[in-house]
Amino acid sequence: MTADEAKKAAAVRAAAMVRDGMRLGLGTGSTAAFFVDEVGALVKQGMKLICVPTSERTRVQAEGLGIPLTTLDETPELDLTVDGADEFDPHLRLIKGGGGALLREKIVAAASARMVVITDASKRVEALGRFPLPVEVNAFGLGATRRAVEKVIAASGCAGPATLRKDGQCHVFVTDGGHYILDCALGRIPDPDTLSAALNAVPGVVETGLFIGLASAIIVAGSGGIEVLGHPG
Ligand code: A5P
Repeated sequence: MTADEAKKAAAVRAAAMVRDGMRLGLGTGSTAAFFVDEVGALVKQGMKLICVPTSERTRVQAEGLGIPLTTLDETPELDLTVDGADEFDPHLRLIKGGGGALLREKIVAAASARMVVITDASKRVEALGRFPLPVEVNAFGLGATRRAVEKVIAASGCAGPATLRKDGQCHVFVTDGGHYILDCALGRIPDPDTLSAALNAVPGVVETGLFIGLASAIIVAGSGGIEVLGHPG
């Protein structure tokens, strides 16, 4: 099974959880894109759904598929969000934000009764931190915020550094919310809960890619088939 086949298999499994009338959060990334395709097919078959995209990229894809969209202002409570992840641990804790959509992804997940993560098996880790942790920061005061973030990282027993994300053209990457991202090379995060709280306490930090207590279930697709961790509901 290729990585894309695994991502699609996880997406198809998640789509089987979608029911008529649901309010859905649509994740961002290559895995979530397979789910958005499945939602598009369900809408074409006549299912009544209303969806909130977690990025402009996902919004464009969903619009192209004719998926009815709403906002959290019009629809502040969602039934289910399905999204990918960059890493997950046995406690259903995640690192997200490799695609830069972590802020909207977290807001949408928090507004959902359930968040189901879809992933291939390569994202599984015993301890979070192999994937550099994205930390979204305000552009104002970047230098000071970065120093403060690196101090928090050092105090948490991790190494750093915190690198300002650039795009393919070497321009500073700007999120949908107009912020920057620091990618923090941590290696292994001894205590993700404490690190998350400490980073969120730094003025200038908008949000971190640590998703703790948000995922209800993780659908993992690999060569051995599909495994469901947690409670999909
Ligand atoms: C987007 O900002 C991310 O949180 C993605 O959900 C995450 O990077 C997973 O992306 P892939 O499915 O492309 O690996």
